[in-house]
Amino acid sequence: MVRLTINGLDVEVEEGWTILEAARFFGLEIPTLCYNEGLSPYGACRLCLVEIGKEERSKLVSSCTYPVEEGLVVRTDTKQVLEARKMNIELMLSIAPYSKTIQDLASKFGVTEVRFKPRNEECILCGLCVRMCKEQMDGKAIGFVNRGIDMRITTPFDIKSEECRLCGGCIYICPACQLRCQGPDAETAVCNACLTMDPTCVDYYEELQCWMYDAGRCGTCVREKD
Ligand code: FES
Repeated sequence: MVRLTINGLDVEVEEGWTILEAARFFGLEIPTLCYNEGLSPYGACRLCLVEIGKEERSKLVSSCTYPVEEGLVVRTDTKQVLEARKMNIELMLSIAPYSKTIQDLASKFGVTEVRFKPRNEECILCGLCVRMCKEQMDGKAIGFVNRGIDMRITTPFDIKSEECRLCGGCIYICPACQLRCQGPDAETAVCNACLTMDPTCVDYYEELQCWMYDAGRCGTCVREKD
């Protein structure tokens, strides 16, 4: 067992747990976005930041990836944590302003303005889709390419992957794609296929891999039916 302090509370948890797991075990809420219990932690969104250490030697770490340590002092709601969390939400909102998930987070944590230039990229590079494909669907159909601001998620060589079985797992888990794929018949309404895992387009367009695009960008939603 490992003994540590979370928000002033002395606790004892299993070795190998992350700070997030320990905090949640004791009922402390830490928001997450790129974390999913069924997938390996990735530490991309930095929403789950907590402050560890004391006074001037403290630092912010992602609680979903940071393992508990003997004697560790953790604080989940300091001014620094709250400010960094809001900044990260603001940043994600500038990247994917139409994401209901991110909008809800902004509302919950009091983000009332976005100071970054809107990018409308609809992908926050959280990597959930990549991990879902690989770890739960045994697919490996998609992955990250490039680095820095050019980083994106796609299939190898940007072409339809033979590994993809159109299971929809990537769309289902994506926190930013709720406004993607509207289906071949919907002009503006969201078909909710992303949420039902039953994309209406698939019946019409076998080649469809709509996680690669924003709504309508791939053309399948607005194309005449054959
Ligand atoms: S939930 Fe921990 S970094 Fe995203």
